[in-house]
Amino acid sequence: MSIAVVILAAGKGTRMVSDLPKALHKVAHATLLEHAMRAAAILEPETTVVVVGHEGEKVASEAHRINQEVIIAEQKEQLGTAHAVSMAKDPLSGFKGDILVLYADTPFISKATIETIRDARTISDLVVLGFEAKDPARYGRLITHGTQLERIVEFKDTSEKERAITLCNSGVMAGSAPLLFSLIEEIDNTNASGEYYLTDCVAYAREMGKTTHLVICDEKETLGINSRADLAMAETAFQERARQMHMENGVSLLAPETVYFSFDTVIGRDSIVEQHVIFGPEAIIESAAHIKAFCHIEGAHVSEGAIIGPFARLRPGAELGEKVRVGNFVEIKNAVIADGAKINHLSYIGDAEVGARANIGAGCVTCNYDGVMKHKTMIGEAAFIGSNTMMVAPVNIGKDSMTASGSVVTKNVPEGALALARAPQENKIGMARKLIDILKKRKQKKDLG
Ligand code: UD1
Ligand code: MG
Repeated sequence: MSIAVVILAAGKGTRMVSDLPKALHKVAHATLLEHAMRAAAILEPETTVVVVGHEGEKVASEAHRINQEVIIAEQKEQLGTAHAVSMAKDPLSGFKGDILVLYADTPFISKATIETIRDARTISDLVVLGFEAKDPARYGRLITHGTQLERIVEFKDTSEKERAITLCNSGVMAGSAPLLFSLIEEIDNTNASGEYYLTDCVAYAREMGKTTHLVICDEKETLGINSRADLAMAETAFQERARQMHMENGVSLLAPETVYFSFDTVIGRDSIVEQHVIFGPEAIIESAAHIKAFCHIEGAHVSEGAIIGPFARLRPGAELGEKVRVGNFVEIKNAVIADGAKINHLSYIGDAEVGARANIGAGCVTCNYDGVMKHKTMIGEAAFIGSNTMMVAPVNIGKDSMTASGSVVTKNVPEGALALARAPQENKIGMARKLIDILKKRKQKKDLG
């Protein structure tokens, strides 16, 4: 059966108290819309329609960034979830397959659950995803009769008795396109909110003698994000799942609760991640790497056997070869560090290429920015950069060369050469003691007078 996915993302998200539309708020560095679209992708939908409204252009451009083929349907006025789904009618005209409706603000439905919903459609006309809520709060309540779902009552329309129900609506619904669109036509807005509720489909389907089926999933999957507090809870839930997943894939986390992943973090087996490590977007860590405590890593690629940290910062474009060693208070940005190179202490390496087995001493800086443009530093194989060398880019330091500690290197260094670029030292014999005596006498005079 071919499937179309309709993702509702037109709402303003008033309870977020934000200038940003709700669908563009992020969990683990991906927008809620991206999470929803990634979840739906498991079905390999024939068509995906994203319904946008509030700040629609921004939401549409995010949808197209994720998948260029997505169709955008505009809902000019947000008259309710049923009205939102009806916006997909035109783009899906002639489509006879199944529609899966997802809400952008409920983006963590697991792939397994989405597959269960698809399979449930083979035995029932309309499928709804529900969950047992610890605190049902403002969720819609599911009214069942035996195994049949009879209707959904929105929180604002519940009676006291219905409010006590803990079986709640996730918002996810699936049915054939012709059925869903014909049910939506029946829906009116005579309710407490004056909105066209998608949830009314269930009662109409029952009236028409259609079968309804309830799929139940874990509450964690259906967390609806309506406020900043919900967003924080979603982040926590996401991180718990990510930690679990990485450990199942063979990564050791020494204190899992202190490690934060991005939605796209990739880590190879037998890697070790110590306490308090944060992964930003696009981090790839190969097998058997060791990330020590308090590192911040984003947009970086760490190869097998590398040891990073503690307290290292890898920024976008950091490409680290095998067995590279990066120590404390080192920042690397847009730089390729070849196999076995070492940058162990207090250095900044940006816009650079560092050759294999090069050794960069403490406190070295590639001075890459002249205030207007960025320039490149090239460091050859097995070069030895003395502590506190400033490499003023553009500059090329040859292989097997050395720079003396404290050098400010402004000219290229040939292969095998030693660059000495600091003021020569002069020793004044006995001068230190003389100077101290003079200063002490001056102080005495001042204290007396
Ligand atoms: C909805 C459900 C409720 C369910 C809850 C789960 C309805 C009527 N109620 O309530 O039963 O328990 O989700 O989280 O469906 N949207 C539009 N256009 C509109 C209105 C909403 O695109 O005109 C989008 C919103 O952007 C959002 C989603 O639909 O992504 C749900 O809307 P929201 O207002 O958050 O509904 P809830 O009150 O949470
Ligand atoms: Mg909601």
